[in-house]
Amino acid sequence: MSAQGRDGENPKPQSVVLGVAGGIAAYKAAELCRSLVQRGFAVQVVMTAAAREFIQPLTFAALTGKKVITGLFSSSSSEETLASAVEHIAVAQENALLVVAPATADVLAKFAHGLADDFLTTLYLAFTGPVVLAPAMNTNMWTHAATQANLDILRARRHKIVDPEDGFLACGMIGPGRLADPERIADAVAAELNQRRDLEGETVLITAGPTQEPLDPVRFISNRSSGKMGYSLAAAAAERGAEVVLVSGPVSLSAPGGVTLVSVRTADEMRARVFEHLERATIVIKAAAVADFHLSHVPQQKVKKTAAKLSLELDPTPDILAELGRNKQDRLLIGFAAETENLEREARRKLETKNCDMIVANLVGRDEDVGFESDQNEVTLALRTGELIRLPRASKREIADRILDEALNVRRALAASR
Ligand code: PMT
Repeated sequence: MSAQGRDGENPKPQSVVLGVAGGIAAYKAAELCRSLVQRGFAVQVVMTAAAREFIQPLTFAALTGKKVITGLFSSSSSEETLASAVEHIAVAQENALLVVAPATADVLAKFAHGLADDFLTTLYLAFTGPVVLAPAMNTNMWTHAATQANLDILRARRHKIVDPEDGFLACGMIGPGRLADPERIADAVAAELNQRRDLEGETVLITAGPTQEPLDPVRFISNRSSGKMGYSLAAAAAERGAEVVLVSGPVSLSAPGGVTLVSVRTADEMRARVFEHLERATIVIKAAAVADFHLSHVPQQKVKKTAAKLSLELDPTPDILAELGRNKQDRLLIGFAAETENLEREARRKLETKNCDMIVANLVGRDEDVGFESDQNEVTLALRTGELIRLPRASKREIADRILDEALNVRRALAASR
């Protein structure tokens, strides 16, 4: 859910503190900050002295539009010094959540043992809300018994730890310790704050991304889908309590926390995996941009370049959505329509012909800020009642929540009419 609530019910944004500690991953905190702001949170950044060696406060001030807090005593005048000396109490009271990324071994140790020698550690002791910690450090420091013991203490306090990822670290080592993907951390923040669990008990099967249809062992046909729309739906549904299975074509996104990722490449594979997981699904959302054509017999060897023209004879891929429509039962079936013209007419046609409960229609190929690849979208929902709901431009995450809201409305209306 957006931090700003929906339909203007709660226009005050939720406020969170982003603590940035001094590690090489501090620069990635800027990406996290941007994601939190984009999700509608009001973000107060607090930096340790070490963090300022890696990244300038100005970066965060520009992203949040707010002064960055960098110390306990931030002024030379005695009145202002007194004000800043108690600022950590005010910040603790005004904010709904504290997230620290990167959380260094030093910060974890100080939090675990209650040491308070700067603004961030003092704020931590004064803070009573949920805490999300995203550690990042050298592999040996991460696996050290002292760090792991500190993490046990912090977990026992019910703090959410977003584990670091495996990978190539700045120190040259390969192993665990790399800061989690900023989107994963932002998902954890949103999940901690999201009180709305209106999808609990639902199993949502979502498809996302493009498919790749091979032409030979090294070439394929595909499209521009980045997976952002489908992954946003998966993150939103998981946050709202659903069990989520995400069948995804090849994309460069990390699966949102708590989501079961099923990776596929071709339309045939996507079809097979979707039907494998269909039985348990109560809601199916087909956001994937499935290729419409493929070579049914792919050459075993790379096709050689010649001076002659080359023609490809392509066969249609299986229409997964139409097949789902024929096997719909009590499930809610939501399809997408990516159109370059006649958006509403095509949305209504696909709603009927594919037996869906809703079509999410978006214009593609015209405005680079919506549709494929962008972080935003602008969609029209076509419903079986004939109603068209136009959702104005918003982040894909916000649009995802609105789609889920309307899906639940359709479910309620169907139940009432039975
Ligand atoms: O991934 P992003 O970069 O975030 O971009 C998002 C998006 C533009 C891909 C997304 O919002 C979107 O529109 N997804 C559907 C793209 C598409 O394939 O539209 P379509 O009109 O060609 O297909 C209609 C529906 O049939 C879709 O639900 C599609 O998943 C489904 N389909 C299509 C072909 C096929 N062989 N099998 C299918 O199930």
